[in-house]
Amino acid sequence: MARLKTAVLISGRGSNLQALIDAAAASDYPAEIVCVVSNNPGAGGLKRAAKAGIATASIDHRDFDRRASFEDALHTELMTAGVELICLAGFMRLLTASFVERWPDKIINIHPSLLPSFKGLQTHERVLSEGVRFTGCTVHFVRSEMDAGPIIVQAAVPVLTDDTADTLAARVLTAEHRCYPHALRLVAEGRTFIVDETVTIRQSTSPLGTAINPDDGHR
Ligand code: GRF
Repeated sequence: MARLKTAVLISGRGSNLQALIDAAAASDYPAEIVCVVSNNPGAGGLKRAAKAGIATASIDHRDFDRRASFEDALHTELMTAGVELICLAGFMRLLTASFVERWPDKIINIHPSLLPSFKGLQTHERVLSEGVRFTGCTVHFVRSEMDAGPIIVQAAVPVLTDDTADTLAARVLTAEHRCYPHALRLVAEGRTFIVDETVTIRQSTSPLGTAINPDDGHR
């Protein structure tokens, strides 16, 4: 089975990266992490990747005077590694439209809220101050607008009365670690179809390899 060559882009601790590394350790997982790239040379996730024997690269955005030059270097790194899909996992640089257009429907991201609510940073603080009863996480295809794009997988997480931003973040993070490997699996198996900017998930195949209702997608 050819596994989808996947890059994970990070800026920090990399717990979602770890969830993807752990999932991809199974021989029947349809994606392989071929490189981990960080814009922050001090990102803890780089050590996780190295420990798993995955190639790493640091491309420090501060070394570039233009965003386009940084993105050119990133693009070259990914092309050299033969990357077919990019997973953003706590990658704290906005990617420009010109970069996103070079990877059409080939970049996915995880965000710690139920998009399209609570885009941007400080999501858990804003969830608490708005008093919503449920929050969650979203894995979506990336568009050039921040935290926007067709939704692949979401999980809802209840907000408890005694939650702080930290306790809520921890509960949402547990859901993130389940959702991201699941979403990457769906994409890598070629089961996600974007129609009118929404994702349809095509049914899995039966053990005999016959597609079950291949055109009878559901969300
Ligand atoms: C996660 O909450 C993710 O949803 C957000 O940034 C955080 C990254 O955490 N985009 P980690 O580096 O994966 O632990």
